[in-house]
Amino acid sequence: MWSSIALLNNNFKILWGDEMQQIKKIKTDDKKKFYNYLNLKLTGLICEEPDWLANLSNASALLWLLLEDINWAGFYLYKNDELILGPFQGKPACTHIEIGKGVCGAAANEIKTQVVKNVHDFPGHIPCDSDSKSEIVVPIVKDNKLMGVLDIDSPIIDRFNDEDAEYLQKFVNLLNKYVDWSKIS
Ligand code: SME
Repeated sequence: MWSSIALLNNNFKILWGDEMQQIKKIKTDDKKKFYNYLNLKLTGLICEEPDWLANLSNASALLWLLLEDINWAGFYLYKNDELILGPFQGKPACTHIEIGKGVCGAAANEIKTQVVKNVHDFPGHIPCDSDSKSEIVVPIVKDNKLMGVLDIDSPIIDRFNDEDAEYLQKFVNLLNKYVDWSKIS
């Protein structure tokens, strides 16, 4: 992890640059191996950075860079009893989602990860990008409070399964460890 090396060398700027250079796509069908790599890189990117916007921006960029077969990755944040578009990668998307509406609203309402094999079979699915065919949405909950959701879309049917859900939950747990949600207004 870069932070421990950084502490040894006491040269954050150079090592920060190195950390970004070291993030490369890996080719593997082993989801455990893939997500362990993804989550290690996420930790490196956010563990020393206190700014929530910088961290969520880099988190969405990391998903976009490393995940195969996706067309949208990012966050909706819980504000004033609704979900509002946060940092993301992909085409411009709808900005407000009611709790209970669409896949994101369902995840927020039920506080339950939604793994949608075919978005056209999901009642009330909100189509932001017509290329999207499957979707996974993980609620972000800290101290029993909803902070938002992580949303990833794919142009391929049945792209995500329970294994993705398990490891993306770990991704969200890391965000919860390092992101100060209280600063989001
Ligand atoms: N499809 C989502 C809306 C957000 S976009 O996919 C970026 C939904 O049904 O909630």
